[in-house]
Amino acid sequence: MSLASVIRSEQKLLLPTYDRHKILVDRGRGVYLWDADGRRYLDFLSGIGVNALGYGHPRIQAVIKRQASRLIHLSNLFFHEYQSELAKRLTKYSGLDRAFFCNSGTEAWEGALKLARAYARVNNSNGHKPKWRILALDNSFHGRTFGSLTTTGQAKYRVPFAPLLPGVGFVTFNDVEDLKRKFDSSVCAICLETIQGEGGIRPIAPEFLQLARKLAESTGALLILDEIQCGLGRTGRWFAYQHYGVKPDIVTVAKPLAAGLPLGAILTTNRVATAFHPGMHGTTFGGGPLACAVAIEFLRVAEKLLPHVREVGEYFQAQLEWMKAKHGCVREVRGKGLMLGMELDSTDAAKSVVSQLMQRHILINRTNETVLRFLPPYVIRKQHVDEVIRELDSALRSAGSARVTKKNQESIARSRN
Ligand SMILES: Cc1ncc(COP(=O)(O)O)c(C=O)c1O
Repeated sequence: MSLASVIRSEQKLLLPTYDRHKILVDRGRGVYLWDADGRRYLDFLSGIGVNALGYGHPRIQAVIKRQASRLIHLSNLFFHEYQSELAKRLTKYSGLDRAFFCNSGTEAWEGALKLARAYARVNNSNGHKPKWRILALDNSFHGRTFGSLTTTGQAKYRVPFAPLLPGVGFVTFNDVEDLKRKFDSSVCAICLETIQGEGGIRPIAPEFLQLARKLAESTGALLILDEIQCGLGRTGRWFAYQHYGVKPDIVTVAKPLAAGLPLGAILTTNRVATAFHPGMHGTTFGGGPLACAVAIEFLRVAEKLLPHVREVGEYFQAQLEWMKAKHGCVREVRGKGLMLGMELDSTDAAKSVVSQLMQRHILINRTNETVLRFLPPYVIRKQHVDEVIRELDSALRSAGSARVTKKNQESIARSRN
């Protein structure tokens, strides 16, 4: 099938939710994807942070083959051996006590919100007054289902679906005074991404996170961290909050957990977990034997890669900083480990760089209009970073000169008028 015919039939048959890049992907291996015409692409987006071990990792393939021939799906009506083994690893790495498994990021986040409401209801440390408000952050992204959307602080995702759920308020990103103003004893949870992903790779400020922890503790509210994009080794530690020395009451993970199979998880403390009883929450697919067996193997492999993520991440970030020093159109470089963003001074410049890189067979994307987002697989090497930097350098140069030409044309047009 050609790209043109796939586009034609998708246009006729699918809901029009995606604006895809015009590449028909055929297969992947290591850090590369190949299109149907045999062109090779260096993938610095890894399926939006999912393919952390790259493509076709032999240990992941071996587990998939073995487990697929034994048992793929079961339902949560029966036991299988992998959920508790996976929970043992995740609780050890996170410092939390218990896990619930689901299928995606947004489901993990929905479950976390439900858990916070249920916990506040049974442990209402606010006397008889209501304690069900949730504070989230401006510019956040937590997913597409209703609860997640309600806590997502970006109008473009929310507005078409209003009215959303009641009880959610927004705090200005990293504004400690705004958090103090909006927090009171009616709040049951403060929710945030430790590093905002869709919002443009913005790390939370340590003083903001520490204040959120302190305020939550002072009234029995919960601190919920969304580490669906920044967790599970992406920043060079298992969890991004481990760079801050702050421990949440609930954390959500998903994306790379089962190395490309759908799997998400809520992790929490023993104390908070008491709010859930059999029947209060559940899923048909979540935590199936195939996805969990693969996730255990993913964690085994990723554990060995954490120092590598830190080392290559620092190298990559230094190179991006060098690009910033060189090119006037670069505003800021942000992020940690292999979750990095480069903010440019205009949407046009960012669009141009993403498409130029694609023409040069390097895949990244653009988020929050002006931010180039880099989420490469953990297995990239410095030589891959060098290749991306070389191409980025020339793409930034041409985006910068296009901007100068456009400005010149505009000022010539103005002087003519
Ligand atoms: C921080 C964060 N939370 C939640 C989600 C939603 O995850 P999913 O698309 O798996 O539902 C995403 C997805 O990009 C995310 O980055």
